[in-house]
Amino acid sequence: MELFAAIQTRSSAARLAQPGPSWEDIDRLLQAAARAPDHGRLKPWRLVVLKDSVREAFTAAAAEAKRAILPGMTAEQLAAEREKMGRSPTIVVIGCAVNRDQTKIPEIEQVVAAGAAAQNLFLAAHDLGYGVMWKTGAAAYDPAVKASVGLRPDDHIVAIMHLGTRSK
Ligand SMILES: Cc1cc2nc3c(=O)[nH]c(=O)nc-3n(C[C@H](O)[C@H](O)[C@H](O)COP(=O)(O)O)c2cc1C
Repeated sequence: MELFAAIQTRSSAARLAQPGPSWEDIDRLLQAAARAPDHGRLKPWRLVVLKDSVREAFTAAAAEAKRAILPGMTAEQLAAEREKMGRSPTIVVIGCAVNRDQTKIPEIEQVVAAGAAAQNLFLAAHDLGYGVMWKTGAAAYDPAVKASVGLRPDDHIVAIMHLGTRSK
């Protein structure tokens, strides 16, 4: 797909079905993400493909983060929230591990670089024919959720990218 066509036809996939991207395609997506422009070559992005125990920990913490802003949530609603995220064929979390050991590149520029990585990944996935939904929500700002993917409380999650096959 030509680049302009990919940009112009990109849209969010409201519903995703199995399968998610193959590991070969995930590798290509991560490489596309890591080609983002990056002031100072800090490579501040962190690209985490959720699998097995990390996915379990992430979805559990994400559901709890939602309950923290909606304290009335019942145990069933909490379980449904986890189940909803569990249905996503593939989730890639794109974080920004802010490098504060230097003073030249401000935090916002590092976050923007991570955002550019997220957009590269989105467009690349679209180009390969996958459906994509870029989400954040309460989970993205929660320290326990960040910890589940190896980020510190003052790092950032810029995208919780859901990937799969577009479903009508
Ligand atoms: C940083 C960021 C965070 C977002 N978080 C959410 C979200 O948590 N929930 C949601 O429904 N849409 C979220 N969106 C918006 C959708 O991903 C989508 O871009 C938007 O609905 C517009 O639809 P389109 O992508 O088809 O143009 C977010 C977008 C961005 C860029």
